[in-house]
Amino acid sequence: MTFRLISWYFQNKRELPWRKTKDPYSVWLSEIMLQQTRVAQGLPYFLKFTEAFPTVFDLAKADETEVLKLWQGLGYYSRARNLHFTAKFIVEELNGVFPKAYKELLKLKGVGDYTASAIASICYNEPVAVVDGNVYRVLSRYFGVDTPINSTKGVKEFKELAQSLIGVSQPGTYNQAIMDFGALHCKPQNPLCNECPLANSCVALAKNQIKELPVKEKK
Ligand code: ADE
Repeated sequence: MTFRLISWYFQNKRELPWRKTKDPYSVWLSEIMLQQTRVAQGLPYFLKFTEAFPTVFDLAKADETEVLKLWQGLGYYSRARNLHFTAKFIVEELNGVFPKAYKELLKLKGVGDYTASAIASICYNEPVAVVDGNVYRVLSRYFGVDTPINSTKGVKEFKELAQSLIGVSQPGTYNQAIMDFGALHCKPQNPLCNECPLANSCVALAKNQIKELPVKEKK
């Protein structure tokens, strides 16, 4: 599955500014912005932000009001406050150098499992799997897993499943491949099953369960 996903990615991936670099500052910024936010909506903010604050030093020096002003319209303002706090922390306590391992990244304010996995895999080739909404959808359908994605059991099960697939050679590529595949191909509505490179082994397709997966528990 991993190989076919990565081949699909090389032919179909989105050209995005943060993909031109392995600079952890750009990757961190983009991954924070893209939480609860679509790529199309986040992209102009990423461009504005990196123009105003090209490096972590520039962001650390900025006034919080300036940071929040540039964030206006993206919502979830705690993300912007944590971003600014963490920029100052990295400059003042770590001499401007980002931590290089998943476990260390996780200690930063505003950086959870998703963001630490994204930065560690994309920038430092650490084989840690990201699990976002796209990943839940692709994995639940392909493997026919109906554990609710918002249950404790589901979170653990899908993280383990994603982790078992990642391999060690191109973890950052695999993570971005499965996210793009979910966003562009294995979509929530009208997924492109007719032209899917994974169709011959997709459990949900074989059982006609595409519309039922992933399962989300009503709370
Ligand atoms: N959504 C959030 N981060 C992403 C990434 N790096 N690639 C694809 N989709 C994403």
